[in-house]
Amino acid sequence: MSGAPQNAGIASLEVEGVERVFRAGAREVHVLRGVTHRFDVGRLTTIQGASGSGKSTLLHIIGGLDRPDAGSVRVDGSNLYATGRDGLARYRNRRVGMIFQAYHLMPDLTALENVALPGLIGGRVETGRARELLAAVGLGDRATHLPGELSGGEQQRVAIARALINEPDLLLADEPTGNLDSAAGASVLELMLDLLSRRGLTAVLVTHDAGVASKGHRRLRLADGLLCEE
Ligand SMILES: Nc1ncnc2c1ncn2[C@@H]1O[C@H](COP(=O)(O)OP(=O)(O)OP(=O)(O)O)[C@@H](O)[C@H]1O
Ligand SMILES: [Mg+2]
Repeated sequence: MSGAPQNAGIASLEVEGVERVFRAGAREVHVLRGVTHRFDVGRLTTIQGASGSGKSTLLHIIGGLDRPDAGSVRVDGSNLYATGRDGLARYRNRRVGMIFQAYHLMPDLTALENVALPGLIGGRVETGRARELLAAVGLGDRATHLPGELSGGEQQRVAIARALINEPDLLLADEPTGNLDSAAGASVLELMLDLLSRRGLTAVLVTHDAGVASKGHRRLRLADGLLCEE
C-alpha cells in the first residue's frame, strides 16, 4: 500500500478520573463521574450500557473530540488534551479511526469518495485502498452511489470503511453493527478482529448487543458514570 502511514501501533491508552458534565439551561447532567481504565492494547474492548449512560461521550473523549471537565486521557504516556490543537488534530487524523453512531457521511460525495476522504485530507489519493475496503464491507458494487442512495446499514458500512482508510492505531466504534442484520454485523466484526490480529490495532467498541459484546477480549459496562468489568 504505497503512501499509507506506517504507525507503530499504540503502546498504551489510559483514562484516569474522567468527568464530563453537560449543562442544558439550568440543568446539569453529570454523565461521567471519574472513569478510570487502562485499555488492553492490541485487543478489542467492548463497552455496554443503557441509552444515555455516556458511552458516546466517553468514546468522543478518547478520540480527541471532546475535552473532559476533569481527569486525563493518556496515549503512549502523554496527556492527550495537553498536546495543543495541532497535537490533537494529528492524533485524530493519523492515529484514530472513528465510526460514529450517526455516520456523518458527506451527502454530495459518492461511497468511494467518502471512504477515500480522510486520505485526501492527509494529501494522499487512496482510491485503490478505498475500493478494497468497500469490497471488504460488501459494497464493492455501490462505489458510485451517494449516501442518499444507500440504505442505513450500507451507509454504516461506508463509515466503517472510511474509519479504516488511514490505517489507524486505534479504532473507536460507536454501535457499528447497530443497523446491520446479523450476517452483515458478523462480517464487520470479523473484519475488525482480523485487523486486530494482523496489525496490532487496538479497538474500543460500544454496543447494545450482548452477542457483539461477547466477541470482546475485555467486556466493560458504563453505569452511573463509571466504567466497570462486565
Ligand atoms: N452536547 C450535549 N449537551 C447536553 N447534554 C448532552 C450532550 N451530549 C450528550 N448529552 C447528554 O449526556 C448523556 C449521555 O449521552 P451519550 O450520547 O454519551 O449516551 P450513550 O450512552 O451514547 O447513549 P445511546 O446508547 O442512546 O447512544 C445523555 O443524557 C445526553 O442527553
Ligand atoms: Mg451513543
